[in-house]
Order: sequence, then structure tokens, then C-alpha cells
Amino acid sequence: MSHIQTISVGLGDRSYDVLIGDGALTESVKRLPALIPRGKTIIITDETVAPLHLATIIKILADADIAARAIVLPSGEATKSFGQLETLVNAFLESGMERSDAVIALGGGVIGDLVGFAAAVTKRGINFIQIPTTLLSQVDSSVGGKTGINTRHGKNFVGSFHQPCLVIADTMMLETLPDRERRSGYAEIIKAALIGDYDLFDRLEAAGAHALSGDTLRDAVADAVSFKAQIVADDEREQGVRALLNLGHTFGHAFEATAPKDIIRHGEAVAAGISMAFRYSVHLGVCPSKDADRVEAHLRTIGLPDGPKALAYSNWNTADLVAKMRDDKKNSGGRITLVLARGIAKAYIESDTSEDDLAKFMETRL
Ligand SMILES: NC(=O)c1ccc[n+]([C@@H]2O[C@H](COP(=O)([O-])OP(=O)(O)OC[C@H]3O[C@@H](n4cnc5c(N)ncnc54)[C@H](O)[C@@H]3O)[C@@H](O)[C@H]2O)c1
Repeated sequence: MSHIQTISVGLGDRSYDVLIGDGALTESVKRLPALIPRGKTIIITDETVAPLHLATIIKILADADIAARAIVLPSGEATKSFGQLETLVNAFLESGMERSDAVIALGGGVIGDLVGFAAAVTKRGINFIQIPTTLLSQVDSSVGGKTGINTRHGKNFVGSFHQPCLVIADTMMLETLPDRERRSGYAEIIKAALIGDYDLFDRLEAAGAHALSGDTLRDAVADAVSFKAQIVADDEREQGVRALLNLGHTFGHAFEATAPKDIIRHGEAVAAGISMAFRYSVHLGVCPSKDADRVEAHLRTIGLPDGPKALAYSNWNTADLVAKMRDDKKNSGGRITLVLARGIAKAYIESDTSEDDLAKFMETRL
């Protein structure tokens, strides 16, 4: 029996499916010829993923009569750069890619964001297929069409919205993922639940540490994708509700941007940021403290930071953090916009934050 779930991201003529579950890749074979009509493609992956999964993908493509060549880039955030963007665009042009051809991003959020952006700007947009291989990329970055690279002015400061034509989230690929990456990706599942899916949080809380594996995890991946797909369908360009997906991220980005490179994983910063968002909501009197307690208890059970003190860096400076939060590209009018919560699964957007009050609050939590 097939356990593959199909979730549609409804965006009119740019709608696409996300296939989720153990064996989603094998299941995808019948769809690939229509998406790669000329029978040739380029797979872009990284040096960690290539030895683990590239041969499997090439074999699956061959079964669908598709010839693939691979470009293997270094692993890590530094790959989301202007230099690698140029490498990919040149490779796509040299191999004669046309708009109706699809290239394949095989890897985590770094590869997905970079390849998506290279696809977006090549000939004003060629197609791309996401095969996300980290938990974070399966539940979050591969869905929704945000693509981009980092600049010296900040992460993801250059990019575009460019939707994939198919996402294949084969949960079997997560078996090779180190525990720390798995936990980090799980933070985005908790985030989705805490924004607006109470039942999901309830199930995850009841499962405790078992939520990180097996059927509970597979179902949670599908639920988190479904939740995100709905928000993206309602607000593709982040003019409104999509900003809710930044729960924990304004604090989290400030932690990530302040700590030395590669000490904190994105999901760890987000987990600490979620705790800050809930605690700040309690401080403002809008959220019951027992809800913040439950959130932090679940983060601890999973082995995620339940606040900045649990991050692998401690030399914080409140003014620097607030300055980083002010630089967040989602702000407008020079004011910090935060996603706060009236309780579990009751997130809301607060665009009228007092910086003084926020700084004083942060001082008490660092
Ligand atoms: N576009 C979006 O909407 C969006 C959303 C969230 C995050 N992001 C971006 O995603 C990036 C982070 O993504 P990530 O956490 O997936 O990081 P990543 O792509 O760097 O992957 C993490 C590490 O895991 C390795 N890896 C990947 N798959 C593996 C597997 N199956 N087995 C073993 N190792 C594997 C990678 O080589 C890498 O070393 C950031 O750049 C962030 O800005 C984008």
C-alpha cells in the first residue's frame, strides 16, 4: 500500500504538488517525463548529499528515460552566493536549457534556495523540481517559492519568488540526516503548529521525543506542508498572512546573524526565537504563561534550545540584537514587526513594537 501523501499548492497556473512519504521518489517516476519533456536535465546537489543519494536519483530518472548530469557544490551556507549563482546560470545556458526544461535541486535549503534563484533568473525563468533532503527543506524551504542567495549585507537579501513545478519530499532520505539537523528542521514543524494548528501541537506534545521519527514524523511533515501550502496559496508574496510563518524568525535571525558563523543551526535559532516570541507575548499580557511553559517544555523534550540561554553561544549584546531585528527585511517604516501569540496556535502579527520595551525584555532573557 502506498503511503505517499500528495498536497497541492494552489496558485492558479503555477500550482504544483508536493509528494510526501517513504518512497515518494519512486512514486514520482510517472510524473517526470511530462516535466522534463526533452529527456535531459541537470541535478544540482552538494558534496554531502551526492555520495548518499545522487546515484538513486540518477537511476530513477533513467527509469523515466531522462538523462541527467550532476553539478556538485560545496555543502554549507556559503554556497548561497553570487559566485555559485553565476556558476549555475552559466551551466544552464551552456547546456541549452529552455524555459520548458526543468533542473533539479537535490539537497537542503541551501541548494533549494540557490537553484531556485538560478532557475528564476535564467532566461527569465526556467522550471525546477525540488527534491528536499533535510527535514527543514521538506517542511519549509522547498514549498512556497522563496528563492535567493546571501549577500554581505544579510542572509537572503537577494532573491525572488519562483515556484517549483514539483516537490518530492521522500522521507526515506531523512535516514541519513544527522540528529542535530533533524532536530533543527523539526523547529519549523513546531512553528507551523504554534502558528495555527493546535491539533498538530497536541499530537507532537503527546508523542514527546518520538515525534522526531517514524509515522509521527511523516504525518507531521505532511501536516506542516499542508499548513504552509494553504498560507502560500492565500498570500504568495507575503503581503499579509504569510508573514505569520516568521514566528520565531525575527529573534532567530538576530541570534544567527550575531553568533559566529556555523555555531548555531537555523532551527536552533528559530526554537530560541519561538520561546522569545511566546515569552514576550506573556510579558505584553496577551498570552497565558502556561502556554509558553508548554512550548518550552516540548522544545526541551526534543533537545532544542528553549531560549537564548540554551544556544551554543552566550556573548549577546542586546543593542546589537535589536539592531539586527530592525534590519530584518520584513520590516516596514523602520519599525520592528514581530509575530507574537495569544496562545498556542494563535499567532498574530505585531507591527507596532516598542524598541525600548523589547530591549528591556530581551535583557532579562539573555
Ligand atoms: N526558501 C525558504 O522559504 C526558506 C525557508 C527556511 C529556510 N531557508 C533556507 O534554508 C537554508 C537552511 O536549509 P537546511 O537546514 O536544509 O541546510 P543545508 O542545506 O545547509 O543542509 C544542512 C546540512 O545537511 C546536509 N544534508 C542535506 N541532506 C542530507 C541528508 N539527507 N543526509 C545527510 N546530510 C544531509 C547538507 O549537506 C548540509 O551539510 C538556509 O539558507 C535558509 O535561509 C529557506
